[in-house]
Amino acid sequence: MRRVALVTGVTGQDGAYLSKLLLEKDYTVYGLVRRSTRYALANLDYLGVTSDLDLIEGDLGDEASLINVVRRTHPNEVYNLAAQSFVGSSWDQPILTTDVDAMGTLRLLEAVRHFAPQARFYQASTSEMFGNSHENGLQTEETPFHPRSPYAIAKLYAYWIVNNYRDSYGMFCVNGILFNHESPIRGPEFVTRKISRSVAQIKLGLSQRLGLGNLHSRRDWGFAGDYVEAMRLMLQQDAPENFIISTGETHSVRDFVQAAFEHVGIPDWEARVYIDPAFRRPAELFCLQGSSRKAREKLGWQPRVRFRELVAMMVDADLQRLRQGAA
Ligand code: NAP
Ligand code: GDD
Repeated sequence: MRRVALVTGVTGQDGAYLSKLLLEKDYTVYGLVRRSTRYALANLDYLGVTSDLDLIEGDLGDEASLINVVRRTHPNEVYNLAAQSFVGSSWDQPILTTDVDAMGTLRLLEAVRHFAPQARFYQASTSEMFGNSHENGLQTEETPFHPRSPYAIAKLYAYWIVNNYRDSYGMFCVNGILFNHESPIRGPEFVTRKISRSVAQIKLGLSQRLGLGNLHSRRDWGFAGDYVEAMRLMLQQDAPENFIISTGETHSVRDFVQAAFEHVGIPDWEARVYIDPAFRRPAELFCLQGSSRKAREKLGWQPRVRFRELVAMMVDADLQRLRQGAA
């Protein structure tokens, strides 16, 4: 029997990579898409999987649609990746962010509890929940959470309600606490893609300068294609457990900028970059560096793509897009 997966957030970065992986593993994949006059299928098209998926309309804001989707699809595995995922916007749209990221998770859990209680449930939790909390510079599964954005607070509610449904109802629910992961289809508002696209534009003479909120934030950046493998592995375990997924290395925004400019052969990059206060956040996370030891030991997972390779992959993809005339 083919396994059936329901993926929310299928049009996003991770949804596209996860769908590709599940299709390669011979799953039937249903992808939840929001009703729209123009469906956002660019990421699925980029990975060449759009026609192999069953897209089905629904919204994390609408319980009735989630019930319909779960009843129609009979999933064995549910991956809840949908979210308002941009931390910066969560100060501008805190109520929407909370409704989708926190309440949306609860709505989906309820639909699964009533109509597919045997389904295994993956929740896209995040290193943002740690805030500036760390133990000797690292975050582990035991590090106390101290969220510093409306996004992180909403995600922390989702984290706990997922744990609670596991404890209360014996459902197979897990939280993947993923650190930042990037790719050529990363949303252009996130810093890595903003840099890769801008550096490609500067290289081709289409732009002159790059404005960033700061250069000192440090993140543990991995490759999305590696991280979706861990999501699936978490749902194949004998017992439901939460796992951190990270590279264990941290780099600054400055490191990313420098690596991107070096990759295209522009050594005098500092003159091309300026600080734009419009991109500063009301509260900042200074450094994320996750220990994925538990995942490496129990899931047998490890990241394959290293930092410089990731930077090169993203810049090359943007160069190629721009040369083909994409915006
Ligand atoms: P993304 O590219 O921003 O994708 C978000 C997805 O959620 C899109 O498909 C979007 O649909 C969908 N969505 C938003 N609101 C929705 C709603 N009300 N109902 C249904 N779908 C909705 O995010 P990502 O980078 O792939 O991340 C996937 C998940 O992992 C998110 O939950 C994110 O918070 C979490 N996460 C990401 C990272 C990371 O570094 N990427 C790290 C930790 C956790 P549209 O295309 O229609 O907008
Ligand atoms: N976006 C952006 N734009 N970020 C900038 C800029 C800029 O111009 N300049 C500096 N930064 C800094 C941000 O302030 C932050 O400290 C860091 O670069 C990374 O920002 P983002 O790429 O927007 O990602 P994020 O870390 O806030 O959130 C991402 O990772 C989380 C996991 O830790 C998102 O994918 C979240 O959904 C995810 O949960």
